[in-house]
Amino acid sequence: MSTVRNVAVLVGSLRRESFNRKVAQALMELAPTSLRLSIVEIGQLPFFNEDEEVSPPPTWTAFRQLINAADAVLFVTPEYNRSVPGVLKNAIDVASRPYGKNNWDGKPGAVVSVSPGAIGGFGANNNLRQSLAMLNVPAMPAPEMYIGRVESLINAEGNLDDKTQQFLQKFAQAFAVWIEKNRSA
Ligand code: FNR
Repeated sequence: MSTVRNVAVLVGSLRRESFNRKVAQALMELAPTSLRLSIVEIGQLPFFNEDEEVSPPPTWTAFRQLINAADAVLFVTPEYNRSVPGVLKNAIDVASRPYGKNNWDGKPGAVVSVSPGAIGGFGANNNLRQSLAMLNVPAMPAPEMYIGRVESLINAEGNLDDKTQQFLQKFAQAFAVWIEKNRSA
């Protein structure tokens, strides 16, 4: 039996009926059994402020520990103004510090962007990859996953349609392979 890898899932929307959260939840169900996906919440994190590092807020510390303990990281994000929502960028910055203790370091990553718009959050997806390069997160280059016109992919029962589920399943399988290839020893 292969070793189970723990994947921290970060959802870039705080909206109650978030499409991104729905996609993240679908991925949690469709992922191979070698991956254990858990959503790590980010909405409770105070804005990053270097002054606070002398006595960091407990929520920062807890979040940093959760990222540090993960084997890999998966980002599921909307696009806000062609970039990543502030709440997600804040979480990225919080776990990248204190200086010299980048909790993202070396963890294999993957990015999914989801939007009601036609181009599936391409701008956010690619902006995020720029930060991941800085943080030494090897981000899976392919398959890319831009889910556009998301509301049309959800059926009457509130589930993603079969074709989208198949795409997500293939994506999760590829991510499992990527994690094994790129994880730190
Ligand atoms: C958006 N939205 C949006 N969509 C997009 O495709 N490109 C964009 O640049 C933006 N910009 C943007 C800015 C702001 C401030 C908001 C609030 C929204 C629309 C966005 O994709 C839509 O609200 C999604 O439903 C957000 O994802 P969740 O909350 O459903 O996961």
